[in-house]
Amino acid sequence: MTRYLLVSRSAEYETRLRRLFRARMQTLPGEYLTFGVDEAVDRVRKTPAIALLGPLLTLGETKALSAGLAEQYPGIGVVVVREQRSDLEDWVEEVGMHAVLSPEATDAATQSLLARLDDWLVTSGRAEAPEPTTDVGDPDDDGTTISLVDLLKAPPSKTPAAPPASAAEEPSREASVEPAEPEWTLPDVGGVRTEVIAVAAPKGGQGKTTLAVNLATGLAEVAPNSVVLIDADLQFGDIANVLDLVATRGLAEAVDAADDEVLIKTQLIRHSDDFFVIPAPRSPELADVIDPQRMGALIDRLATMFRYVVIDTTPGLGEHTLTALEHATDGIFVTSLTVASLRALRTEFELLVTLGLLPQNRHIVLNAVEKNTGLVVADAEPIIGAAPDVIVPRSSGVLLAANAGVPLIHNDPRDPAAKAVRTLVQRIEPAAYPTRRRIHRRRRSNEPQ
Ligand SMILES: Nc1ncnc2c1ncn2[C@@H]1O[C@H](COP(=O)(O)OP(=O)(O)OP(=O)(O)O)[C@@H](O)[C@H]1O
Ligand SMILES: [Mg+2]
Repeated sequence: MTRYLLVSRSAEYETRLRRLFRARMQTLPGEYLTFGVDEAVDRVRKTPAIALLGPLLTLGETKALSAGLAEQYPGIGVVVVREQRSDLEDWVEEVGMHAVLSPEATDAATQSLLARLDDWLVTSGRAEAPEPTTDVGDPDDDGTTISLVDLLKAPPSKTPAAPPASAAEEPSREASVEPAEPEWTLPDVGGVRTEVIAVAAPKGGQGKTTLAVNLATGLAEVAPNSVVLIDADLQFGDIANVLDLVATRGLAEAVDAADDEVLIKTQLIRHSDDFFVIPAPRSPELADVIDPQRMGALIDRLATMFRYVVIDTTPGLGEHTLTALEHATDGIFVTSLTVASLRALRTEFELLVTLGLLPQNRHIVLNAVEKNTGLVVADAEPIIGAAPDVIVPRSSGVLLAANAGVPLIHNDPRDPAAKAVRTLVQRIEPAAYPTRRRIHRRRRSNEPQ
């Protein structure tokens, strides 16, 4: 499906091209070049046919990227995205490119250039035929903002037998003969043994903490004292409050102890429902001192010490949340049934696929669903690009449990939201069915003395 790769430092241009080419465009933020060109090239997934380099990359970066990509993906087309300035000749001499594209080029002109370069790469045997698409340029657009570079100036390996003609020509393909582009769908993965579960959502207040707490509770029924719950909502994590725990230590101390199993154990707080908790840092400014890589090391270490590691995260895709997802076998993605949240989740998925950071197993939870909101559950799938796995209704029981400091599935097992949350627990651990003994024993243990 992926056809094009964009490496740039312009979030605005990146957003524009992602909107234009959707799943066919993978993007790589230019920031990765800080770690070196090889590191950046290693991040590219799904063999691209054409790489767009720029805007806002230097000549040195563009040159090195072009060479690195050509080595990794022989036959790849290279388009440099930059303004045509007086130094263009230097770039043409030094970078192995096939075309220059102005960042100001219209959508139609951009699509037209890529379509023609694609055609040429296929007819000259450098790439396999692209999947069908309707994304062609507006035939009324003259595309004059693009100039194709003289291909003879490119290195021999890139010299085409029949180069695409001037960009000012009519697009070579007619929109009417193009088959429809398939809707975006989440790629199929799965099947790895669940060990580390990250609970994430692009927006705040969707129910991450509620799900993380109840997941740890349900898993601990089957694996007592072998579940650890990390509150990685670094600034405003509230797991200690929701579980009525006194947080005498938190994630900052645990991350410091990441290299030493015995020290890590001294940082854990035990919950009476037989699982351990690492609360969020005790004050928001401590979030800054937590190095994401060290947090990743802590997660890996905990995964060797416990059967399950459950991680609650900060909304969005900040560095720490990306780290949690990178180290997770399972991602639980939470959204409410609103257009804004569903769209945000789709964007989050697209980005994670692009970055190669989508966990192997994933579970989509539609939370706090209620009637008469203008949307029904069936509306979610086409927006997200994948069907929700668990539907949790809105219920006052969730807030009552949080205020009581008791996990919902033990506070009121018959609550409709509790039953739905239980199905999520059972997706991960099928043996986690509720039993009277378990629930009563745990409830008593949480009641005031
Ligand atoms: N299914 C539900 N029905 C009713 N209320 C819910 C439901 N799920 C969550 N809530 C309530 O919504 C609020 C937000 O839930 P929660 O704290 O779990 O979300 P979050 O994603 O962790 O939020 P944040 O982004 O602030 O960390 C809480 O008051 C919670 O009690
Ligand atoms: Mg939360």
